[in-house]
Amino acid sequence: MSRAQMMKSFVRLLILVQVAAALAGPVAAELSMDYYGMTCPFAEYIVRNVVGEALMKDPTLAASLLRLHFHDCFVQGCDASVLLNSTDDNTAEKDAQANKSLRGFEVIDSIKEALEAQCPGVVSCADVLALAARDAVFMARGPYYPVPLGRRDGTRSVDSDTFLALPPPIKNVTVLIEIFDKVGLDVHDMVALSGGHTLGIAHCASFKARLQAETETLDGSLAKSLGSVCKGGDSGSAPFDRTSTRFDGVYYRELTSRRGLLSSDQTLFESPETTEIVSTFAMNPDYFFYSFMQGMQKMGQINLKEGDEGEIRKTCWVINS
Ligand code: HEM
Repeated sequence: MSRAQMMKSFVRLLILVQVAAALAGPVAAELSMDYYGMTCPFAEYIVRNVVGEALMKDPTLAASLLRLHFHDCFVQGCDASVLLNSTDDNTAEKDAQANKSLRGFEVIDSIKEALEAQCPGVVSCADVLALAARDAVFMARGPYYPVPLGRRDGTRSVDSDTFLALPPPIKNVTVLIEIFDKVGLDVHDMVALSGGHTLGIAHCASFKARLQAETETLDGSLAKSLGSVCKGGDSGSAPFDRTSTRFDGVYYRELTSRRGLLSSDQTLFESPETTEIVSTFAMNPDYFFYSFMQGMQKMGQINLKEGDEGEIRKTCWVINS
């Protein structure tokens, strides 16, 4: 066995041990692994089925389901506030600028409909988002992690709540670190969760500034192809990496070749605070998977409603009357 192979086996073993520890890791008091064991025993199976059917028809939805959970948890905690529709006297998060390109709402609605048919009024929309994101990642060949359940749905959803809570695609890593820190995620979590960009696409509106201002940290051939994509205007789009429907470590390898799409992606490799983490993930995708699972488990427990706070929505896009 070569030294490189030995090293790889050792890292694999280390990860297995750590995964076992992570499975028993801290879970917020409100959540538990068998939360719906008595009230909706097939809940996870139902979610997995609907997600599977949706991804068979459109594999790009894996990215969208993952992003929905992220945008839910960062604004007011994981309470499905991102799913609520605007009303006559309130503009909801869903209609905020940062959420304009969210997709996958119809998959969440189908899951909820299937759950309501089996066990009405039991499974929260916030839990549906957490499970759908986990299943989407796994079906895109990413890691599988346990999702403790029992989140409750919120009744508030206001567009302005997204302004400071969701990170903008800028290159200032200090600001990005601060935004993640506010919800209890550290620098390592930030870099690992940014690896969510191993899936999906961004529109020219999100990266055109990088095309103009960051020539030194942008690979020439990528700059050329993005330039032609964006000739048609802000609605052109490009994948985050070469394998945008497959959850893998290619995103980090692209960053080390200066082929990051957003300024906020590339800056992770350019900034001293995060360069080493990016290089490690680029060389060792298993370690990225492990760090991503840990990050997702933390993200899925941000600012949960306590006790009787909130509700279990009957329909995900409107609060119960
Ligand atoms: C570090 C801070 C982050 C910033 C600045 C950021 C920003 C963005 C932007 C600007 C887009 C493209 C929007 C568009 O042009 O349509 C996007 C897409 C996406 N983001 Fe992030 N993001 C961040 C972190 C995350 C995290 C933590 C996750 C998940 C764990 C995530 C998952 C995704 C996915 C999967 C997409 C593609 C969605 C699709 O194709 O439908 N992002 N992000």
